[in-house]
Amino acid sequence: MIKIAPSILSADFSNLIQDIHQVEEAGADLLHIDVMDGHFVPNITIGPLVMHSIRNKTKLPFDVHLMIESPDRYIEDFVKAGADIITVHAEAATHLHRTIQNIKSFGVKAAVSLNPATPLSALDFVLPELDMVLLMSVNPGFGGQKFIPIILEKIKSLRQMLKERGLDTDIQVDGGINLENAKEIVQAGANVLVAGSAIFNSKDIRERVAAFRQIIK
Ligand code: DX5
Ligand code: ZN
Repeated sequence: MIKIAPSILSADFSNLIQDIHQVEEAGADLLHIDVMDGHFVPNITIGPLVMHSIRNKTKLPFDVHLMIESPDRYIEDFVKAGADIITVHAEAATHLHRTIQNIKSFGVKAAVSLNPATPLSALDFVLPELDMVLLMSVNPGFGGQKFIPIILEKIKSLRQMLKERGLDTDIQVDGGINLENAKEIVQAGANVLVAGSAIFNSKDIRERVAAFRQIIK
């Protein structure tokens, strides 16, 4: 079963709840929340306060993508704000193994993200600990960028690596996903697709989520 995770980065923040309800009613599986600190990535977005304020307005699980330095300092805050899955970047965690244990100690799911240039070998010694791996298919920081095609090879290699180790860890892909490339991303081995601009910049958000579902089913 392929999961769709709309990224609220491209939602209308002045109508955030309405946009969230539309993707929820259209059958999205997760709400992807992009947290950026202006250091790890050049952009600044939202934090636990905003997350907490929307937590009781939707039943969608919160899939929190932390693009921040020193993630350990904030894990507890994001758990309290309602995170169900917390993703940290391998490039941002000095002691990645410890950070993963920290996330799991709160009873939420733990995931690690790799930037496009970071090799899969960064996961070698943490893979069995993870509920999900997030492969970035753009350089993180902004919505609306173009999918980097070589990431299809990375997805295939990761799926193969997981198979060899007897793991069925979720593979999430994030960045530049649209109705044209969604199918090949799934065929490469991804089972959780993030889409921001392709969903929220559409005139009919519900219809767009349904169109994604149709393509990847
Ligand atoms: C980029 C974010 C993505 C972004 C995806 O740094 O992590 O989640 O919102 O946006 P699209 O789907 O527009 O590339
Ligand atoms: Zn993201």
